[in-house]
Amino acid sequence: MGFSTIAIHAGNEPDASTGAVSVPIYQTSTYKQDALGQHKGFEYARTQNPTRSALERNIAALENAKFGYAFASGMSATDAVLKLVKAGDHVILGDNTYGGTFRLFDKVLKNYGIEFDLVDTTDISKVEMAFKSNTKMVFVETPTNPIMSVTDLQAVAEVSRAHGAKTVCDNTFMSPYLQRPIDFGIDIVVHSTTKYLNGHSDSIGGFVALNNEEDANWIQFIQNSVGAILSPFDSFLVLRGTKTLAVRMEKHDENGRAVANFLAEHPRVEKVYYPGLTSHPQHELAKKQQKGFGGMVSFETGSLENAKKVLESVKICTLAESLGGVESLISHPATMTHASVPAEKREKLGITDGLVRVSVGIEDIEDILEDLDQALS
Ligand SMILES: Cc1ncc(COP(=O)(O)O)c(C=O)c1O
Repeated sequence: MGFSTIAIHAGNEPDASTGAVSVPIYQTSTYKQDALGQHKGFEYARTQNPTRSALERNIAALENAKFGYAFASGMSATDAVLKLVKAGDHVILGDNTYGGTFRLFDKVLKNYGIEFDLVDTTDISKVEMAFKSNTKMVFVETPTNPIMSVTDLQAVAEVSRAHGAKTVCDNTFMSPYLQRPIDFGIDIVVHSTTKYLNGHSDSIGGFVALNNEEDANWIQFIQNSVGAILSPFDSFLVLRGTKTLAVRMEKHDENGRAVANFLAEHPRVEKVYYPGLTSHPQHELAKKQQKGFGGMVSFETGSLENAKKVLESVKICTLAESLGGVESLISHPATMTHASVPAEKREKLGITDGLVRVSVGIEDIEDILEDLDQALS
């Protein structure tokens, strides 16, 4: 079946008791048992909930995975995946992940004996050199937030497998419509469903998709033991969101390309970061492993003052954190999403004070371009 058919039907079977075509919001904390130990597969709603199960089947299918688990946020999904490693284990972490992912390693997991090294995973020889005898996991994000650099998923999967390490890819920026890491040999996919999967900027959530049954059982055990579950209402919202994922992503991609091309020609813009531009250093790799380039575009304005002027002059684009919604959002990574990354590290990565990031929405492209033009002017 094609992607849209799966998106609309997987997990979305009509409700067995009423025939409701949309999966109902099962807003309950517990379930009646007919006799001691006799129930319908649902005992307590932290452990199982039909709305959440429907979403879990849906996104797992979209990622071409056997198993999927929905969490209360992208960060709790990432945290659950990191519970596959133990004190004394070492993780190779891409050096330009979402700031919150770095913060989880740097400020939380370090206290529990998990070692990590930040590595430029766009260079596979650097990944190879970073393996230690205790490396158990390689965690990448591609394209990265906000510099949009691309990691070769197949190469990372191969080199990690050779070293006996599991691979994880944060696929938030692409969504399964534009990139399916498992098809390239990646073991585990994580998502902030807050972004493209939900797509309407009205829910916080996260997801883990994987094929290995033993690891899946552990993730499910963590989901139940820690309890950072996605609520029934949020599960319903994301399930509604994924039905239109394909059409939304097509439009985000089309508008993203147009914005990147426009900015690349603009005299007030010093540099544009977008894998769809032929000038992007990993353009060919992006073409190989992505179905499109998406709606995330970052650009350099040259100074904090210039960035501030742009961010405060836009009228259609909204100055806000987050991304992946139908509306265009504009942000300042250095002080917003990546504030938890030390200044010298930010500078090294190119997350300068003049960098602006746009999550290009699906409004009419003429209006978005006109808005950016007047703000830059
Ligand atoms: C790439 C990426 N991964 C993970 C997260 C964390 O997701 P959440 O905010 O849903 O916890 C974000 C949030 O911005 C993100 O951009």
